[in-house]
Amino acid sequence: MAETTASVRRLSSADAKRCDLYSGPTVIAPPENMKAPCDANGTATRLERARKSIDETASDRATPEVEQPDPSSTDKFALAFDIDGVLLKGGKALPESIGAMKYINGDNPPYIFVTNGGGKTEEERCIDLSRQLQMEVSPGQFICGHTPMREMAEAYQTVLVVGGEGEKCRVVAEDYGFKDVVTPGDIIKSKHDTTPFRKLTEEEYRNSRDRNFDETTIDAIFVFADSRDWAGDQQIILDLLMSKNGRLGTRSETFDEGPPIYFSHNDIVWSTSHEHSRLGMGALRTSIEALYKELTGKELTTVAFGKPHLGTFGFATRLLREWRKETYGIDQPPATVYFVGDTPESDIRGTNEYNQISDTDWFSILVKTGVYRDNKTPQYPPRKVCEDVMEAVKFAVQRELGEDQWELVEIPFWSLQRKEWTQSDPVPMNPSDLSLVGRLSK
Ligand code: G3P
Ligand code: MG
Repeated sequence: MAETTASVRRLSSADAKRCDLYSGPTVIAPPENMKAPCDANGTATRLERARKSIDETASDRATPEVEQPDPSSTDKFALAFDIDGVLLKGGKALPESIGAMKYINGDNPPYIFVTNGGGKTEEERCIDLSRQLQMEVSPGQFICGHTPMREMAEAYQTVLVVGGEGEKCRVVAEDYGFKDVVTPGDIIKSKHDTTPFRKLTEEEYRNSRDRNFDETTIDAIFVFADSRDWAGDQQIILDLLMSKNGRLGTRSETFDEGPPIYFSHNDIVWSTSHEHSRLGMGALRTSIEALYKELTGKELTTVAFGKPHLGTFGFATRLLREWRKETYGIDQPPATVYFVGDTPESDIRGTNEYNQISDTDWFSILVKTGVYRDNKTPQYPPRKVCEDVMEAVKFAVQRELGEDQWELVEIPFWSLQRKEWTQSDPVPMNPSDLSLVGRLSK
């Protein structure tokens, strides 16, 4: 495995800011004799560079020749994790997920996170995830439902962005390069009776922007994250879909002149802290299509990104591929990617279908901690069912390396959880001060 040339820095999820994620990497390591066999930060840094490299491919620059070292066993496979229902529920880490992350951090095979969730910038979401999973997660390892929408920023001049908390999705969209972003709040502020039962709070009123909608053409609608106000958002979306060329206040006579609508994913339900799955963005999509039919008599064509969309899996493949090229000088994808998910309709369906068109073996693993429950046969059957994410990573590692090649080692707990070691840190003296991680036997 090639040594990374850049020095690296551990981020603290407690106080990291957006700029920290992109500033120069440094690390304050514990003394050599106490160093943990954990290179998660190195992985994250390399993936971050890989992500940047993907962004730069548009410039079509020539790839410099690199030496091709032999891949180690862990180079041959990678892991991809769904988040809600696999690692988190209701914003809190599932107990097995922290252990699973420690397990693979011992001699880390590359891993990424592919969630349909969103509503925040990728950077902000990674800071949350770092805190929740007690480890560093870089935007270079992270794909969320609306990540592919970045590529549509150039296509439209003025867009309506729906969903998420407050102004967050407007910020995400502007960050992606969308030039002129309108929110439902802007529309309600300009005409309060647009939504008879939805009144803007003082804060919403302050944040919403003044504009003249008689002179505004909305070219496309993007549902970035789950709606916080279905009734109001449905009304505004339908007004636009039935309009003449995206002009609010107008009505098409033919109902085929409205702007296109894109959803960041199509999950009908998702897993939260509630004992039963909750309605998701796919349910809003279904309701919009049904209401449009009811109101106009016409079928509405909508587009959804996220899993199981094959484009999302293609993006994940490119991310992993670029990372291997950057890090190991190997210009080929891993032989196998294990995808661990909880929703048969998005995670398992997408993995299985992408596997049919991919040179890489995309291996689907379904866990029982989220949307899928044991009591029914999944509509899209996985290649392996596991109780939880811990069992899933153990299965993947042992299938690749065999039990005899993978050992559990004990390391000081603080080396996984703290950003730096100081002289005052205790030398671990008893087992409760130690954490177990998996490591490839040398
Ligand atoms: O809104 C989030 C959701 O529908 C599912 O997220 O992480 O399970 O893909 P995830
Ligand atoms: Mg899930």
